[in-house]
Amino acid sequence: MHTKILKLSSTAIQEAAEVIRRGELCAMPTETVYGLAADGLNPAAAKEIFRVKGRPQDNPLILHIANLEMLYPLVVMTPEMEGVMMELADVFWPGPLTMVLPRSSLVPDIITAGGPTVAIRMPAHPGARALIEAAGTPIAAPSANLSGRPSPTTLRDCADDLTGLVPMILDGGDCDVGVESTVADLTHFPLDILRAGGVGKEDLEEALGYPVCDVSAPKTGEILRSPGMKYKHYAPSTPLTALLGSGEDSAAWLDKQSGEFAVICFDESAPLFAAKGIPVIPYGRESDSVTQARKVFTSLREADRLGVERLYIQLSPSKTGRGAAVFNRVFRACGGDMITL
Ligand code: TXA
Ligand code: MG
Repeated sequence: MHTKILKLSSTAIQEAAEVIRRGELCAMPTETVYGLAADGLNPAAAKEIFRVKGRPQDNPLILHIANLEMLYPLVVMTPEMEGVMMELADVFWPGPLTMVLPRSSLVPDIITAGGPTVAIRMPAHPGARALIEAAGTPIAAPSANLSGRPSPTTLRDCADDLTGLVPMILDGGDCDVGVESTVADLTHFPLDILRAGGVGKEDLEEALGYPVCDVSAPKTGEILRSPGMKYKHYAPSTPLTALLGSGEDSAAWLDKQSGEFAVICFDESAPLFAAKGIPVIPYGRESDSVTQARKVFTSLREADRLGVERLYIQLSPSKTGRGAAVFNRVFRACGGDMITL
C-alpha cells in the first residue's frame, strides 16, 4: 500500500477526514503521541486498527472527541460520575486525560473489547480536534506504533512503523507531551488512575480536592484493570536495563561492563559517560520529568538504531508529575530489569 504523508493543513485535514469516513486508517498527531485513527463508530474500521498494529483483541481503544457534545451519546453516567467528569473536563480537557465511563449502546463492542465501559479523550492538539470535527465522528486511536514498540512521538518514528500499512499519515511534527494520556476510571468513585500519563496524580488531586489512587504504579502481582498495561510494552529490540543511582556511580559501574553498549542519560551526566567513550543519548536533566517524557520514546528508538548489543537508561526514582509516567514507561520497556547503584 502506498502511504501518503501530508503536512498538517486545512486541505490535508479534509483529505484525512475522507479517509476516515471511508472506513480506512490515518495516522494523526496529538499532543501526547501519534495516534492510529479510524471511525470509532465503524466496527470494520476499528477492526483494521487491531490488524495493522498486531494488537490483542482484548485491549480496548480510546474514543477521541472534539467537544463535550460528542461525549453524551457515547456514555451513560450517574449524576455522581457526571459531577466528577465535569470537574475534570473543566480543568483538563482538551488535554492528556482519558476518562473511563459506562458505555452507551452506540459504542461498538470492538472498541470496548466487549466490556461495559468506554475510554474517552478530548485531545488538545488543534489538528487532531479539527480532524475529528471534519470526520464528524468520534475517532478511535491507539498509539500509532506496532504493538509492543515504543509509541511514536515524531513523524519519523510514526512513518518507520506504518509506511506501507496505512493510506495516510498527517505530519504534525514532534509531539509536545511525549507520553500517552493519563487514564482515569470514573466508574470507581471518585476515580482510579489506570495509567499514569500526561496529567499528574497531584494535578488531579488539586482539581478534585481529595486524594486519588494510582493503581498503575509498577509492583509485583500487578492489578490489570487497564488491559493494555499487562503486555510487555514500549520495548526497543535491543535489551534494555534501567540504572537508578548517581551519574558517577553509573559511569563507574558501566566502566566494568563488557560488550558494546550505549546509554540514554540525564543531560548533566552525559559528559561522565562520553569521557569513557560510551555513546550517549541525553533525554533531559534528572529533575526535569517534562523533558524526559517528551524525549523518552524517541530516545529508545534512536538508541535501537545504534546497533549496539545492550542499552542502559538512567531513571529517576522521583514519581511526581510526569515522573510517574516516565518511570512506568521505562519500567515496562526494560521488562522490570532495573539496577540500583
Ligand atoms: O495519549 C493517548 O492516550 C494516545 C493518543 C493517541 O490519544 N492513545 C493511546 O491509546 O495511548 P492506546 O490504545 O495505546 O492506549 C489506551 C489505553 C490502554 O492501556 C487500554 O487498555 C486503556 O487505555 N483502555 C482503553 N479503554 C479502556 C476501558 N474501557 N477501560 C479500561 N482501560 C481502557
Ligand atoms: Mg499504546
